[in-house]
Amino acid sequence: MKVLVLCSGGDGAGMNRFVYNLFAAFKGEAYFALSGFKGLIDNQIFPLKDVATKEQRDLAGSVIGSSRCPEFKERELFQIALKNARKFDCVVILGGNGSERGAKELFDNGVNTIFVPGTIDNDVNGSSYSIGFSTAVNECVYAVQHTMPSIKTMGDSCLFEVMGRQHPAIAQAVAERVKADLCISTKKELDYEKIKDVVLQKMIKNQSACIIVRENLENIEKIADKVNKLLGMEVVKFQVVGRTQRGGTPTKEELLMADKFSKEVISLIRQKVFGVRVLADQERNIFVDEFECL
Ligand code: F6P
Repeated sequence: MKVLVLCSGGDGAGMNRFVYNLFAAFKGEAYFALSGFKGLIDNQIFPLKDVATKEQRDLAGSVIGSSRCPEFKERELFQIALKNARKFDCVVILGGNGSERGAKELFDNGVNTIFVPGTIDNDVNGSSYSIGFSTAVNECVYAVQHTMPSIKTMGDSCLFEVMGRQHPAIAQAVAERVKADLCISTKKELDYEKIKDVVLQKMIKNQSACIIVRENLENIEKIADKVNKLLGMEVVKFQVVGRTQRGGTPTKEELLMADKFSKEVISLIRQKVFGVRVLADQERNIFVDEFECL
């Protein structure tokens, strides 16, 4: 049983654990495509034994690389990728909702694919969890908790920009964990007067506002500037949490979920069940679903 695994659309902590578990199950028959769909197009395919080591197993990042690969949609390149994918009995794809489309496309063209949510954005339809999310949230919480003491000391307030692309999951989870004064995770919630009021209310009590803002709504510096202008004072600072969200040490929950996802995938491969998505329900139990019509 020749198994190929690839990570697409960006890395997330926990991916290495997943990949290692696949290697432990299929050993010499396990391979990876370097940097996701790109490796499938370029035929950069190698044995997992070369990279899936115990030392790497619980570290962040992805030892098999990852990339965004818009070229995958180009007809000719897709045909090349297809030819390479067909050399395997099964292709396991870790990624977000865009990568799921690629997995389905391969399946519709005769490749035995299995899709697993792997993105910090937690944006896979129908799944409560995707590998990388817990660690990303944890890193943001750490950043807030280690920044607010200084913000408070200086009598300021702070906007924290967190990742998530267009998806509110990270911002909302972080806001809940740190008990933020305001969470701005959608365009509709970006209300400058409201931000100003929240900051003012805190200042009256001699306190500091902690505000979580999802990326890609507006430049965070501009938001801070605008609020400071409305207040007529320079009291709102900003902090971009950035890529530490993807590079943090995997949380216990992360490793547990990576184990759960990989266990199910290994079992599906052994039963020869393909063309499916492996998802998590609200209780974080794993279930298997058909591909969506995307
Ligand atoms: O999709 C994962 C993600 O981390 C998003 O949250 C973010 O918008 C994007 O990747 C950043 O990508 P890059 O590190 O390539 O700029």
